[in-house]
Amino acid sequence: MKAVVFAEHGPPDVLRVVELERPKVRAGKVLVRVRAGGVQPFDTRVRQGWPGLALTLPSGIGNEFAGTVHEVGPGVDGFTAGDDVLGWTYLNALAEYLLVDADAIAPKPPGMPWEVAGALSASGQTAHTALTILDVHPGDTVLIHAAAGGVGTVAVQLAKAWGAVVIGTASEPNHDYLADLGAIPVSYGEGLVERVRAVAPHGVDAVVDGAGGQALLDSVGLVRAADRIVALVNVELADKVGARRLQPDRSVRRLNELVDLHSAGRLRIHVRGSFDLDQVARAHHEVEHGHGRGKVVVTIP
Ligand SMILES: NC(=O)c1ccc[n+]([C@@H]2O[C@H](COP(=O)([O-])OP(=O)(O)OC[C@H]3O[C@@H](n4cnc5c(N)ncnc54)[C@H](OP(=O)(O)O)[C@@H]3O)[C@@H](O)[C@H]2O)c1
Repeated sequence: MKAVVFAEHGPPDVLRVVELERPKVRAGKVLVRVRAGGVQPFDTRVRQGWPGLALTLPSGIGNEFAGTVHEVGPGVDGFTAGDDVLGWTYLNALAEYLLVDADAIAPKPPGMPWEVAGALSASGQTAHTALTILDVHPGDTVLIHAAAGGVGTVAVQLAKAWGAVVIGTASEPNHDYLADLGAIPVSYGEGLVERVRAVAPHGVDAVVDGAGGQALLDSVGLVRAADRIVALVNVELADKVGARRLQPDRSVRRLNELVDLHSAGRLRIHVRGSFDLDQVARAHHEVEHGHGRGKVVVTIP
């Protein structure tokens, strides 16, 4: 099978498409023929060489995917060959075949495009987990930094669905996009506190921080209690200011909730770039520059 690997850390072109042996199915596992996989900023940092992350090279890459069940292992109930699924994994999603735990996949509705399904399981669950940690409820005003990105796009729509008023930060070209998703758009950068106060004079109840640095420091002055900030980046700074770290907490229940919202027309996943497997370096480059709407996906026809 074809798979993306990297044998050294470095820029996007260290990613190679190579031939590997197809994994063999085992008890409790499902072998999936992958059709699409999302690229996260995490992937680009791992490729560059994330300090402290224990990694054996060569390594695969990619944490979220959608595809078709090829074979199920002994003891797996609920899935059979031919089922379309989406799910999450760790550093091996970008390959023609993927061996994955049966409790890390959910059925893909027929109407959900492959690119969307491939881009939902990790970033979408990050957004869901962040809002759950914050206990967002009706009447809250929630500030979301990096609101137009992969996580932010889902966080904005979920927070709206949970009854919150949402303020989202993005550059001006993404303001119409954020307004369409249901957020009040605000530009990031100098003067952010004043711009947020102009739309929320009493400050905000909760913050999802996908930007870090000054955005996190500004948030401390805008939120009533620092422990209602959840930091996706800059976690050491978050510790210092009393904000909470995001602890990944993925589950099929969480994923199904996102899938159901999408099926009900209440969750849109914008795919700004779709790349073939042999263009994976371009996909990484697109994520790495840190700007743009929604998700970047690699497809494997
Ligand atoms: N994806 C995950 O599951 C996950 C999990 C844990 C942590 N994280 C971290 O959370 C952060 C967001 O993740 P993501 O997947 O949403 O990333 P992403 O899709 O690459 O985010 C891109 C977005 O960031 C915005 N942005 C850039 N600089 C900004 C700033 N100074 N202030 C506010 N927004 C800014 C951009 O807006 P403009 O285009 O308008 O400039 C763009 O829409 C990343 O640092 C990531 O490592 C992600």
